[in-house]
Amino acid sequence: MATKIVPYEDIEKQKKYIQCVREKNLAKEEKPIACIKTFGCQMNEHDSEKIAGMLEQMGYVLVPDETEGKYDGRICDLVIFNTCCIRQNAEEKVFGHIGALKGAKRVKPDMVTIVCGCMTEQLHIVEEINKKYKNVDIVFGTHNLHRLPEFVYNSIFNNSRICELSHTEGEVAEGLPIKRESSFKAWVTIMYGCNNFCTYCIVPYVRGRERSRRMTDILEEIRGLAESGIREITLLGQNVNSYGKDLMENDGCRSFADLLAAICVTIEGTGLKRIRFMTSHPKDLSQELIDVMAKYPAVCKQLHLPVQAGSTEILNKMNRKYTKESYLDLVARIKEKMPDIVLSTDIIVGFPEETDEDFEETLDLVRKVQYDMAYTFIYSPRVGTPAAKNPNQVPEENVKERFDRLVELQSSVDRAKNEAMVGKVVEVLCEGLSRTNINRFTGRTEGNKIVNFVADVKCLREAEGKFVKVYIEKAQTWSLEGHAVEWE
Ligand code: SAH
Ligand code: SF4
Ligand code: F3S
Repeated sequence: MATKIVPYEDIEKQKKYIQCVREKNLAKEEKPIACIKTFGCQMNEHDSEKIAGMLEQMGYVLVPDETEGKYDGRICDLVIFNTCCIRQNAEEKVFGHIGALKGAKRVKPDMVTIVCGCMTEQLHIVEEINKKYKNVDIVFGTHNLHRLPEFVYNSIFNNSRICELSHTEGEVAEGLPIKRESSFKAWVTIMYGCNNFCTYCIVPYVRGRERSRRMTDILEEIRGLAESGIREITLLGQNVNSYGKDLMENDGCRSFADLLAAICVTIEGTGLKRIRFMTSHPKDLSQELIDVMAKYPAVCKQLHLPVQAGSTEILNKMNRKYTKESYLDLVARIKEKMPDIVLSTDIIVGFPEETDEDFEETLDLVRKVQYDMAYTFIYSPRVGTPAAKNPNQVPEENVKERFDRLVELQSSVDRAKNEAMVGKVVEVLCEGLSRTNINRFTGRTEGNKIVNFVADVKCLREAEGKFVKVYIEKAQTWSLEGHAVEWE
């Protein structure tokens, strides 16, 4: 089915609701405060920036995410949970937080509590919220984000409880306001949803089928970002490598490699110097993309390439559509074209039927690839996915033991990789002061490694969002330390 762009009138309709809520909010003595609690991946982080944009237009002042719906002793007027359901513990965490708001709601009954995101695309979760969490006023899923103003309006003016999960598949909403977290780094969604149905994964069920944005819309957004002083962008999609496949016509853009090349040309000569993207499914990563990455200096030589497991048999059961050998061959081709590439991955331990021998294959692959970073997860059965129905789940103690071995192996690789950076000068995009030590600045390398460094800078503004060359003095497992040698 071809992707349809949500008509501008639909977004226009929301403006009326925004205006009504805004007038009511501005008439209040004290400006109403709102808090967004975000769980999950970059998709959700970016969706929350859109939520923030809409809430601000509605007259809310956004406050940081503090516990139990309070900020600075004041109970929030609106709290919204943007949820994740990728693993069981993600869901449990969210329920804990929603439950903790019950007290605040009793004290301030007109507080608006909203639950949205991936979790609420599951019927059994919505039923649980309806039954056990009467303090929740609005529930909606991932497809209705642009209708948030309408839902808030109905909750406030009609005092109605809203549960809106119906959606039209195959839509992409353009033109939402975005309040970006950073003034120099930005997320840009290029596509929504996933068609891959890996047998452990809930994402295709809660995010729907793949929908690509039009290339013209993406380029226009990026042009605007470059003009506003953004230095680095990350293109987002569950599988960016299948970008454009659902579009009937897309201005001659045939693939993600085409889009990436067009973006590089668009930002030439501007202050926007770095492009990252995630996530790449190994089965769809083309030679053409490797060539485009290698050709354009603006494309960071960094790649997140989730492998999930090292055993071809397990990969098959996961429906990943590649083998251990083809993955290793892909990595070899990438390293051949880009010898300095920084590789990261995701690995699941304890997938149903995983044997000790299968797990040894994972360790072997990790040793061979030498990732700079690996996100390791214990398999978590998700309701409705094929793997959750498999009767041969791996006993917890085996999984735990395997998990610890993997983490130990990868930590030693992480450390060795970082040690190899000592004595080098690297370019860092300065993000501001380090959270743990305010005498240091922090930033990231092209390879996305964190660098904490000292610098002789008089005010923060001179440093934030600037590129700086840093001499690396010391390596930690997760970060590097050094001192600034030259600012741009
Ligand atoms: N679209 C991305 C991944 C999104 S989810 C991709 O295909 O790579 C992020 C990671 O969570 C996955 O790569 C996987 O390693 C992990 N994950 C997904 N479902 C999981 C489950 N049921 N249990 C444990 N980890 C899971
Ligand atoms: Fe999940 Fe697989 Fe889609 Fe990634 S590619 S979101 S792991 S189904
Ligand atoms: Fe992301 Fe979690 Fe949804 S990982 S896509 S927020 S289930």
